[in-house]
Amino acid sequence: MSYNIAIDGPAGAGKSTIAKLLAKKLGYVYVDTGAMYRAIALYLLREKVRPGDTEAISRTCMEAEVTLLYQDGEQMVLLNGENVNGLIRTEEVGNMASNASAVPAVRARLLQLQRDLAASENVIMDGRDIGTCVLPDADVKLFLTAGSAVRARRRYEELLAKGTPGSFEQIEKDIIERDARDRNREISPLRQAEDACLVDTSDMDIPQVVDTILEICRQKGCI
Ligand code: DC
Repeated sequence: MSYNIAIDGPAGAGKSTIAKLLAKKLGYVYVDTGAMYRAIALYLLREKVRPGDTEAISRTCMEAEVTLLYQDGEQMVLLNGENVNGLIRTEEVGNMASNASAVPAVRARLLQLQRDLAASENVIMDGRDIGTCVLPDADVKLFLTAGSAVRARRRYEELLAKGTPGSFEQIEKDIIERDARDRNREISPLRQAEDACLVDTSDMDIPQVVDTILEICRQKGCI
């Protein structure tokens, strides 16, 4: 039997940073489902598909084979056999991923892969619909959030550190738009599962968030 921890929340809430640290501490496999949507988005961008063209997205996504590989505990996303880890962290790919993820054919393409991973390993899986749809029986469900200005600031600093700075105003605008799209889509919208614990990270630093979640995991018997 494997233990599953589901983390959902809006863009920039700190899900991946926290999930990576927790996975290391607990010896779980970290599964970043956003990266899978981003890999499909990269394929769509390369094929010059427009974000609003649902029909073309449904058709073209069938050509994109996404697989995950783990090297020294790091998740690598392969798109038709190519390691695209270094190409998917841009705002352009993120926005396309948000558009494409509202298309049922795209979600169907990734759902089974995500469930299979969780069935075979102890996983911490993060995304938008993990607690509500992908792993409804997860042992621990968390909904991580923070105010939009805080989340935009984190994204801004992340991009700056990578040497690809953007405009703060534009990043905040993108984050607000992306959240609205992720929350209001028809299929698997972003929302807190009824049995998820809400963690607002606006005024918390990373160790505080990790400790809060470790305590929740302890209470649920995952440690
Ligand atoms: O977490 P992220 O920024 O890498 O995700 C990119 C987009 O992918 C996000 O805006 C919505 C979509 N996504 C989703 O719909 N469901 C998931 N489980 C993960 C991501």
